[in-house]
Formats: sequence, structure tokens, C-alpha cells
Amino acid sequence: MSRLIAPSILSADFNRLGSDIEMINQSEADYIHFDVMDGVFVPNISFGIPVIQHVNKIATKPLDVHLMIIEPDKFIEPFVQSGASILTVHYEVCMHLHRTIQQIKDKGIKASVCLNPHTPVAVLEDIIAELDMVLLMSVNPGFGGQVFIENTYKKVQQLKELINKNNPNCLIEVDGGVNYETGKKLYEVGVDVLIAGSFVFNSDNPKETIRKLKVV
Ligand code: DX5
Ligand code: ZN
Repeated sequence: MSRLIAPSILSADFNRLGSDIEMINQSEADYIHFDVMDGVFVPNISFGIPVIQHVNKIATKPLDVHLMIIEPDKFIEPFVQSGASILTVHYEVCMHLHRTIQQIKDKGIKASVCLNPHTPVAVLEDIIAELDMVLLMSVNPGFGGQVFIENTYKKVQQLKELINKNNPNCLIEVDGGVNYETGKKLYEVGVDVLIAGSFVFNSDNPKETIRKLKVV
């Protein structure tokens, strides 16, 4: 099991986004997490392709793009062109998930599926073999700074079992309310990638917080 960190720039200071990305470049972070929200699938609107394109010019870490949008199929090509290395779509909006995953993989990047807190892990049984990563939401998507949902630990264990049986290379990523305490427990139950937004960017020393999150 790897211990990877993806800071979520939703909590970054957009007045000085360039230096926040530079901080991540110099940190021990493994990916940069982008929360794309459309105001339909989630009750918030964040940012899209132009921001990712600009960040891609200065980023030295892979871009982990989390699509909280309806009809993600329509936008796979532009997000790939913008520099996404991993594209995550929500299970709850994909009527033809198998086709969507193939479309992402055909572009030569990593394909990932995200489950909302209420969506059971079992829905992935017939698609898990195709996935590079599964993202479990530990908050209801749409905002940073929310409280971690404890049931997530049980879902991670169920997912780990499914992955060990069907696709041991598939990574597990968790998103929402991550801090030193929840991060430690998540790594213990088998998570590979922790996403952290407010806990990193609201800290006095974000680079040090990233380093410490990796060794909790
Ligand atoms: C929420 C987003 C998360 C969020 C995490 O919908 O998907 O990535 O930015 O923020 P924190 O770590 O503050 O909960
Ligand atoms: Zn996210």
C-alpha cells in the first residue's frame, strides 16, 4: 500500500494560485487535486478547463481531476487536452459507465470512479477490473471544510476486499475532512491516496502539513 497525498486546490488562495502551486511542486505531494463543480450535480460552482490549463503550465505533479458534473462524457477530450493525468467521474451520473471508462482510457490517461457517501461499494463489482482508481467521498460533495463521515472506514475495507480479489493494482483515494487523525486511520484500513484541502491550505505551514500527513 502506498501513502500518497493530493492537496485539493479548492482551498488554495486563488489570488496567489501560482505560488500555491509552486508550494505543492516543492512539497512531498504526489498529485494536485482539482474539484470541478457544475452547480447541477453539486450545489456549488468552482472552476473548469481554463484554470487547469494554466496550472498545467507550471505544475510538476500529475493533475488529479475530480469531475462533479453531469454528462462528463461530453468533456473528456477537453479535460485530457487541459493536462489531466487522472480523470474521475461520479458513478451517480454515468448511465454508460463502462463506455465512459473506456473513453478515458483510450485517451491514454488513468480512469477513476467516485462514489458518494450513500452509494454502496458493491455497485463497482462489474467495473472494478477496468479501473485505475476508486475515489470514496467521505463528505457530501460540493464544499471543502466539512466533517468526515465515519462510515467511510467500513467502505474502504469493503473496497479493499473487492480490489484484492479483482484488480490489486487499483488505488483507493478518499476525499473530504482529511486531517492527521482521519488520515492515520484511513491509511491503516488500506487507503492509498489522501486528498486534503482546508487542512493543508489553512495550516501555518502547508508544505510541512503535507509531509506530516504522509507519515502519520
Ligand atoms: C468536495 C471536494 C473535496 C474538497 C476537500 O466536494 O471534492 O476535494 O475540496 O476539502 P477538505 O479537505 O477541506 O474537506
Ligand atoms: Zn475532490
